[in-house]
Amino acid sequence: MTTRPVLGIDIGGSGIKGAPVDLETGTFAAERLRIPTPKKSTPKKVGAAVAEIVEHFAELIGDGPIGLTVPAVVTHGVTRSAANIDPGWIDFEAEKMFEDLLGRKVVMLNDADAAGLAEAHYGAAKGHPGLVLLSTLGTGIGSALVHAGVLIANSELGHIEIDGKDAETQASSGVKDKLGLSYKQWIPRIEKYFQTVERLIWPDLIVVGGGVSKDSDKFLPYLKLNTPIVPATLRNKAGIIGAAWMAVYRQQHDADTESVAEANRRAIERSQQPEVPVVGDSDSDRDDRVTAVDADEQVEVDEQVEAPPAEDAPAEQD
Ligand code: BGC
Repeated sequence: MTTRPVLGIDIGGSGIKGAPVDLETGTFAAERLRIPTPKKSTPKKVGAAVAEIVEHFAELIGDGPIGLTVPAVVTHGVTRSAANIDPGWIDFEAEKMFEDLLGRKVVMLNDADAAGLAEAHYGAAKGHPGLVLLSTLGTGIGSALVHAGVLIANSELGHIEIDGKDAETQASSGVKDKLGLSYKQWIPRIEKYFQTVERLIWPDLIVVGGGVSKDSDKFLPYLKLNTPIVPATLRNKAGIIGAAWMAVYRQQHDADTESVAEANRRAIERSQQPEVPVVGDSDSDRDDRVTAVDADEQVEVDEQVEAPPAEDAPAEQD
């Protein structure tokens, strides 16, 4: 990938944490810096804290790109939701703001997606060839779907509806803390959540991250699931590592990826074309084949309506 460490920054509800990452090993190249998240977590206030972290590591990271996670849906550099941060992030051109502010390439992604990438490339699901669901259990429930190392971004499975309620408001570890639930009392909630998710997407492996994963022995062994479930290994480093990984990956792939708007335009155009023509050597061939197919189809439909007994069927039909 690259030999110079790449800065990853994880924007969370209580802290903004950054560290330069050695992407050969998936480890920190220097001690992490944490700044408390401003009370009102607007893009501008968070921007100032991020700039401080970038400044702190400037010498080590040179003019390289940086990866930034945020607890929100991020599509093409725009933050689209704000479940546990300031609503000012909704439909906000975040990547552009950070690039203008920091004067360097910035890549933004959802916090759980970053953690999922890190676990898939360096952690609990390293080298896994199947569909891995990383679920982060914290104030909210984050999710990342990674298939054979490739991220399917913004899955947002913490917001599936269970019994008419948003799942993360019933089953997150934040809810456990808020209601003062013991593990025994919380287990049925988180079990129901995972059972519902596994019926929807049938993952090959579930990896559980977030603060509560350090106590995984208190709940993972008691969950009745069809899918193997293991604790994350990178813990609270995963977001930073995944962000740095994505910063470099995106830079390497941006150039050969056509824009989504362009691909959508082509798909819409294609859908408006009348019919896919049958391939033939000449125009007359094509006409013949279309007629033949139509005629066959007609016979089949007629047979279904008035099927003669098998023994009476004309021999040439075989
Ligand atoms: C948000 C997700 C985020 C998760 C964990 C959820 O409320 O919708 O985008 O990944 O919390 O922070």
